Amino acid sequence: MEFVKVSRLVKSEDLNHHGTLFAGRMAEWFVEACFICGAKYTKKPENIVCVNIHGLTFTEPGNEGDIINLETRFAKVGRTSFTVYGKITKNDSNKILSDGFITFVFVDENGKAIPHNIVLDEPIDEEDRKIRERALKLNK
Ligand SMILES: CC(C)(COP(=O)(O)OP(=O)(O)OC[C@H]1O[C@@H](n2cnc3c(N)ncnc32)[C@H](O)[C@@H]1OP(=O)(O)O)[C@@H](O)C(=O)NCCC(=O)NCCS
Repeated sequence: MEFVKVSRLVKSEDLNHHGTLFAGRMAEWFVEACFICGAKYTKKPENIVCVNIHGLTFTEPGNEGDIINLETRFAKVGRTSFTVYGKITKNDSNKILSDGFITFVFVDENGKAIPHNIVLDEPIDEEDRKIRERALKLNK
């Protein structure tokens, strides 16, 4: 189970009325990146639906011309649901602009939740362990 990294370029159409990256655009990129993490691992994008965006805090603005990096990983798995953690940085900096969790559910062709059979590997480091602890405390 590896990290999935996706990058986006902040363009003029991505800006808000303050001239910084629009939160809605960042949220869209965040959901997409977390979805790609689940889709890449399961290879079943058609079976994945988003059930909960647990919260996304913005601690730094993005600016036009920035490269926004979205790094995602599995944080928690249930029977039919799984939760992906996403971390957002920009350019070559490790400073976190935003991070959060999204829970997806594996569904059949009728939209009914079905087991995904995903098994979470052991945490690879301290950061991974802390992310999983945070995921266990998320509310529905
Ligand atoms: C996803 C969906 C099928 C789940 O239906 P449901 O009746 O809640 O199903 P269940 O009660 O069996 O729950 C299924 C799993 O989702 C989890 N779940 C349900 N609601 C949740 C929530 N708000 N947050 C986190 N997990 C949730 C349950 O804990 C369960 O996980 P588990 O099997 O790993 O223990 C249904 O909510 C749905 O169709 N939602 C719309 C999805 C969608 O269209 N997304 C795009 C939004 S624009």
